Amino acid sequence: MTTLPISADQLSTPSVIANPYPYYHELREHSPLNYVFLPAGAVAGINEPIRAWALMRYADVYGALRNHDTFASSHSLAGKVVPRLALIHDDPPRHTRFRHLVNKAFTLKRIEALKPWIATVVNELVDHMAVSKESDIMQDYAIPLPVRVIARMLGIPGEDYVRFKLWSDTFLAFSSMTPEERAKSNQEMMAYFGQMAAARRTEGAEDLITALVEANVDGESLADTEIIGFCMLALIAGNETTTNLIGNMLGILVDRPDLWQQLRADRSLVDSVINETLRIESPFQRLSRITTRDTELSGVSIPQGSLVTIYYGAANRDPAEFPNPDEFRLDRDLRNHVAFGMGIHYCLGAPLAHAEASITLNALLDRFPVMQRGNIPAIRQTTSLMVYGYQQLPLRLLTSK
Ligand code: HEM
Repeated sequence: MTTLPISADQLSTPSVIANPYPYYHELREHSPLNYVFLPAGAVAGINEPIRAWALMRYADVYGALRNHDTFASSHSLAGKVVPRLALIHDDPPRHTRFRHLVNKAFTLKRIEALKPWIATVVNELVDHMAVSKESDIMQDYAIPLPVRVIARMLGIPGEDYVRFKLWSDTFLAFSSMTPEERAKSNQEMMAYFGQMAAARRTEGAEDLITALVEANVDGESLADTEIIGFCMLALIAGNETTTNLIGNMLGILVDRPDLWQQLRADRSLVDSVINETLRIESPFQRLSRITTRDTELSGVSIPQGSLVTIYYGAANRDPAEFPNPDEFRLDRDLRNHVAFGMGIHYCLGAPLAHAEASITLNALLDRFPVMQRGNIPAIRQTTSLMVYGYQQLPLRLLTSK
């Protein structure tokens, strides 16, 4: 085996987390399939460095996502330190049953019905930013919006969103907290959702938790522990990711005033902007699987029981699938990006995330002919290996040119 171009330690350095793309290209060019050292905390439940196969070619990522029998999601690693997450850490038949039940509650109709309320919150948040000369779009907008939306959907008071954010951050952060601190925060979150589920069993409401309590497929329904698991998943999988989609999209557009004007004139391009952002700056970067049998990818043998890391972010920049992958372009075929995964685990919240990004962009285009960078510099997040996004993104939204 030849030496890797980058070492394990480098993978977790702030500069690589802030911009992993040159390293993905280096690793992909070095070998179709690399066996890398992931730093401590890179896999949920593992607090020491661990070796894993790194899937960075589009064809391999696609192949593994489609072959869920061989590349399993439930493995003994999850649940050691952090709780197992429903769905994401499940395989069939458990996954199939759970997904059917959750699909009954988390419907397109529910998302559609929420859109007018999302638009109201969007305008409320934008109003606040519009009065000041410069706003950190992350703190003032991209963080609060998804938390308020999921809280509203679940039926939880909007004021609690600051606690939500803390729980979600704690779950994802790998370097800034002790295992004990993380466990305490996770227990608090589970207790909170447990109380919510119990309350909805006594008295229902017009919300997703009630729909989960009432969901029934062929006489089967969800236990409270499963509802708690789903709420945690929605909070964790849905917030940081949507926050980063919005931040990354605006971070790209602020440097493209030409495109801003084009979008103001032609809103049919909004969906392509969202999809191209998802491809080029994938908010969710990587997740692990475990092999249930000996297998092969790109001509390399992978033994049974191996940890495999799927790099959605790297696959979305594979030049073999997306020519000139580092260029933001609206004229490509974007149906194949894997930013929301693929196959049985395809993101349940994709339509919701898309709706939030679309309502956001349309509202900003309606109100502001000009968007500029602020004086304070933008800073990428550098603590989580899971996500790609900004820690701060100061912008100026101007009502006249
Ligand atoms: C831009 C925003 C988002 C991105 C980039 C994203 C990304 C992903 C990805 C890549 C997966 C597949 C995981 C796998 O392969 O195992 C996934 C699954 C999932 N996502 Fe999202 N997500 C986003 C927003 C949301 C939202 C808003 C929600 C819910 C409120 C959500 C809920 C879920 C759930 C429940 C799953 C698990 C599905 C399953 O295993 O069957 N996501 N997401």
